[in-house]
Amino acid sequence: MSGNLPVVRRIAALRHAVARLRRRGNKLALVPTMGALHAGHLALIRAARKRARRVVVSIFVNPTQFAPNEDLASYPRTWKADLAALKALKVDLVWAPDAKVMYPDGFATRIAPEGAALAGLEDKFRPHFFGGVATVVAKLFTQVAPDFAMFGEKDYQQLKVVTAMARDLDLPLRVIGVPTVRETDGLALSSRNAYLTPAERAAAPTLYRVLKDCATLIKARQPIGEVIADARAAIERAGFLVDYLEARHAETLAPIASLTDGPIRLLVAAKLGRTRLIDNIAV
Ligand code: PAJ
Repeated sequence: MSGNLPVVRRIAALRHAVARLRRRGNKLALVPTMGALHAGHLALIRAARKRARRVVVSIFVNPTQFAPNEDLASYPRTWKADLAALKALKVDLVWAPDAKVMYPDGFATRIAPEGAALAGLEDKFRPHFFGGVATVVAKLFTQVAPDFAMFGEKDYQQLKVVTAMARDLDLPLRVIGVPTVRETDGLALSSRNAYLTPAERAAAPTLYRVLKDCATLIKARQPIGEVIADARAAIERAGFLVDYLEARHAETLAPIASLTDGPIRLLVAAKLGRTRLIDNIAV
């Protein structure tokens, strides 16, 4: 049971609840999620609470950001545990529309993000992904109309895409990035870590370890191309199939050849068995 944590599933009920939360000029922060909540999501909620008196968490496994061959059907759903965690953090409202509410019959409008959404990273391997994310996040932003919206640096390209969309569409809110929460061995928390077999779980921290080594070498002025090539080989030796490992400009995500060309972000995506993991760090 959700107890005193209201869960709304319809737009009209959401508007009513948000109007109540905003009484007396309370600021509102939104934390969009697809559920299967872990300590990374909870860090976003704590960061939201620091910015705003009222915190709304959305839980919606968004079908439009999954390709037909991806894990929409098997994506972990842990509704009861999610509600218990949100209640413990004293979240004010859960927005949990079903797919028919988010995408009613006749739905015919999509956001097509460019710029960072076409950087040749996630978009190259999941071409449908940022269109789906931008469309649902634009809807969440207009539905909830928050003052702040919290996104994890874990999904770095997504953070940049959503930030640009809010700016480009003049949406009156601030997108706030929150640092990645990791296991003690460095593996970035992800709902998809639940798919890892014990052997894969043991190999998974390699991703972060290699990123850190890369950052150290690049800061020590080693040639970026060579550092990345060695790192890619190290990740493959640990059993991963690498989708990409790249040094990019931390703001534009444009390819970057040297430390002097701007702040660098290292971004990686790689498959371990049937699980695709992503991670990134600042240099
Ligand atoms: P989901 O994967 O559930 O992630 C929700 C938010 O939690 C995202 O902003 C993500 O970056 C953040 N997050 C995930 N793991 C994290 C970690 N280890 N540390 C810090 N933050 C972390 O990302 C999505 O959902 C969807 O694309 C969504 C934005 C909800 C649109 O459908």
